[in-house]
Amino acid sequence: MSTPTDTLARTDTAVAVDDLTVRFSSKRGEVTALHDVGLQVGRGEFVSIVGPSGCGKSTLLKVVAGLTDPSGGSVELGGVAVRGPQRNIGYVFQRAALLEWRTVRKNILLQAEMRGLNKRAAEAECARLIEMTGLGGFENALPHELSGGMQQRVSLCRALLHEPEVLLMDEPFGALDALTRERMNIELHRIWRETGTTVLLVTHSVAEAVYLANRVVVMSPRPGRIVELLDVDLPAHREYATTMEQPEFIRVANRIRELLGSAPHTD
Ligand SMILES: Nc1ncnc2c1ncn2[C@@H]1O[C@H](COP(=O)(O)OP(=O)(O)OP(=O)(O)O)[C@@H](O)[C@H]1O
Ligand SMILES: [Mg+2]
Repeated sequence: MSTPTDTLARTDTAVAVDDLTVRFSSKRGEVTALHDVGLQVGRGEFVSIVGPSGCGKSTLLKVVAGLTDPSGGSVELGGVAVRGPQRNIGYVFQRAALLEWRTVRKNILLQAEMRGLNKRAAEAECARLIEMTGLGGFENALPHELSGGMQQRVSLCRALLHEPEVLLMDEPFGALDALTRERMNIELHRIWRETGTTVLLVTHSVAEAVYLANRVVVMSPRPGRIVELLDVDLPAHREYATTMEQPEFIRVANRIRELLGSAPHTD
């Protein structure tokens, strides 16, 4: 792949997944969620993960976070084997999962309280993130006073407060309307460029996957395997509307749809 000048250098490995297999046992028997998954993610990369429902995408993120144990294979974060819940990650879920009785600021600072971070430094970082995500003026609002997109921005701030090495996002914009989702995509793209954080994003939207990522992982139906890893050979700085019209964008999006077995169309 050619390297546009403003593409972030893949200097180091942030996440290394090797021969990962995850099996779950229940009363109904055994389910193999992931089978022999291998993935190396460089520091500062943005990797999108797409695949059919139930193929193990959430499981993959949970294993990287140390919340689910592998049945086979290994996972490393920054060269260190993952054993138990990891501290140096941020996790954003489909629903914002905010505490209804805490203000925007207090919801974000929850991260600092749980980690015992320096209060003053955390407050300064919180204020910076609030500005960066356009939440200025809503510091003291309660979650029910915010739109869905704003709530998800609070959740993103909370996940970024401790400046995690790796940001894991599991369908973070799935519950938003199309226009808000588009705005959040633009914002997340900017934030990624500004912070240089490594991101693993699970999404069902092909357009979202391609617009945001420098690589897209396409997974097979369960047991989830990686069927193809696609480079997105577009500049790191991307305008939303014009990027969608680029031949490279269309090529990657169509290939993903082909692999997922759906007819080419735009969303
Ligand atoms: N804790 C668990 N116990 C038992 N089975 C589980 C558990 N977690 C996940 N599974 C099973 O593993 C498989 C993969 O689940 P996972 O949630 O990772 O899929 P997914 O790709 O995230 O799906 P979706 O796109 O619908 O969110 C599914 O068959 C699911 O039922
Ligand atoms: Mg899932």
